[in-house]
Amino acid sequence: MPAIAFGGDYNPEQWPEEVQDEDVRLMLEAGVDLVTVGVFSWALLEPEPGRYELEWLDRVLDRLGAAGIGVDLATATASPPPWLAHRHPETLPATADGTRLWPGGRQAFCPSSPVYREHAVRLCRTLAERYGAHPALRLWHVGNELGCHNPLCYCDVSAAAFRLWLAERYGDVAELNRAWGTAFWSQRYGSFDEVVPPRTVTATANPTQQLDFRRFSSDQHLANFIAERDVLHEVSPGVPVTTNFMVTSHIRELDYHRWASEMDVISNDFYVTAADPEGYRELAYCADQTRGLAGGGPWLLMEQSTSAVNWQPRNVAKQPGELLRNSLQHVARGADGILFFQWRASQAGSEKFHSALVPHAGTDTRVWRETVELSRTLDRLDEVVGSRTDNDVAILVDYQAWWACELDSHPSTDVTYLDRAHAVHAALTDLGIGVDVVHPDTDLGHYRLLVVPTLYSLTDASAARIEAAVSAGATALVTYFSGIVDEHDHVRLGGYPGAFRDLLGIRVEEFYPLRSGDRVALSDGSAGDVWTELLHLAGATAEASYVDGPLPGVPAITRHQHGEGVGWYAATRLDRPSLAALVARLVEEAGVRPIAPGRPGLELTERTDGERRWVFVVNHTDTEAVVDVAGHDLVRDEAFGGRVPAGGVAVVRR
Ligand code: GAL
Repeated sequence: MPAIAFGGDYNPEQWPEEVQDEDVRLMLEAGVDLVTVGVFSWALLEPEPGRYELEWLDRVLDRLGAAGIGVDLATATASPPPWLAHRHPETLPATADGTRLWPGGRQAFCPSSPVYREHAVRLCRTLAERYGAHPALRLWHVGNELGCHNPLCYCDVSAAAFRLWLAERYGDVAELNRAWGTAFWSQRYGSFDEVVPPRTVTATANPTQQLDFRRFSSDQHLANFIAERDVLHEVSPGVPVTTNFMVTSHIRELDYHRWASEMDVISNDFYVTAADPEGYRELAYCADQTRGLAGGGPWLLMEQSTSAVNWQPRNVAKQPGELLRNSLQHVARGADGILFFQWRASQAGSEKFHSALVPHAGTDTRVWRETVELSRTLDRLDEVVGSRTDNDVAILVDYQAWWACELDSHPSTDVTYLDRAHAVHAALTDLGIGVDVVHPDTDLGHYRLLVVPTLYSLTDASAARIEAAVSAGATALVTYFSGIVDEHDHVRLGGYPGAFRDLLGIRVEEFYPLRSGDRVALSDGSAGDVWTELLHLAGATAEASYVDGPLPGVPAITRHQHGEGVGWYAATRLDRPSLAALVARLVEEAGVRPIAPGRPGLELTERTDGERRWVFVVNHTDTEAVVDVAGHDLVRDEAFGGRVPAGGVAVVRR
């Protein structure tokens, strides 16, 4: 793409056809150059099985194409029409307790259904044959947010597919018995035929069965993507294919690290949590993770909202300036396109109170004016398109560890997977340091600082990779409840954290989770809550010990020279100032330099094309920020004066 793409989901089928003339006129006024068409139009495109009505879509694409507006064309398979469930009720998904989910919402299909797959692929082929060479076509969009509403299906069709998947994974039922630890509670299986999904059970379900069911379910959705993608590649060669991910902190259903390599373009949907006054921090973290999935290169923000959404409990409107800040946060972290849900606010349906580019009140509105202004600002940033980011710090995350960490029957429900990752990301960001969020199996060789937050489960290979990076000179910060189990959720014996004992030079004998609200004080003035553990030094030095709580005198923060590098361990959940102090020390020790000196609420990130560097400054605070960077500010198109107003932004070409 020559320029930062700008646009959003366009659902003209919800409006009389004459509205399209105004749509195109307004799109041109707003600088829209990419729209996603047809996401929820299966029922209109194929009103009965095998009978297609595509002429209306021809006219939409022709009209957009004539205006020079590009199309991200959906394969329209996100939501099957009512006739599919009516004729094939077995395509409907079921919950763990056997409840069938009915049509009337969206995405009402079982991800393992061969009947759904067959109909979806046929529609996809029909659209690919008709539009594969259309001049307006820029990108194919398979389904939509795959697995958003139907991530885990427990029906009999899924059960049969799960058995096949398990037979493929384990080969022999004896291997499954070993991996699932079925000697426990008399769960031994005599054959794969006896296995069912982890449906509602007495007591608690086998944890490895639960994990494998998540892996299986992610793979089934991915297989649906691949089936359509392969048709698109065959019929419409050269046109890239994507599907919009949901990299956000409240959705963990699909293992996107396994998906990323199957995408031609990584795209993501992100909606700020309105109830969180610091919601911009989650945005920053998720955008860094999305760039990680894109291998450090550019990606597309497929959806965000111009103002409020309709699905949170209190749908707070965006403050003036927030839309620009949010959008630049994404561009700063590699997004080469800023798209929205949706172009025109719906008049009917359950999303009618969701903001859009064209609000119900029309264009004489704050939202419209800010949107047009945003588009103009993005136009001035086009030179960053295609550039990448090279940071010295990585946070290592894994969806499978997230699933495993939050299984039932663990020492404390207060230990949540993302808590430490978010906290360390925020502490680094406040220092003006750019952060990558990547899977442990990424090439870690060039990082100076690795953060391993609550990485409860990992493979031997991942552990070896982290160990090798530290041996070669990196500094690592490992936080509690990391390295505890292998990929089958079997405890690594000999003392916790089994995978990192040598690296950290420690041995943990027993967990001592804290009662809700209890805090512990540390000898260096730090404080923690949630978690403590009976830790012994085995080569490491104690940098701080508990002075109260259940384990006075026991080390809480340790440091261990390992090869050329250093392994740090934080055995309690440090509060914000304590973690900030520790992170500042680690950054110093690891030789990581900030882009410019930072401060809480100020974001400094950098993109580069190898020759030029652009520093993105986003000031989320209500005071002016002084930023020690010199160059040309693309936002104002003038020399950067070193000051960014409260709530303001700058993009400085150094
Ligand atoms: C996304 C979805 C869109 C729309 C949007 C509302 O999850 O892809 O179709 O529903 O949320 O925020």
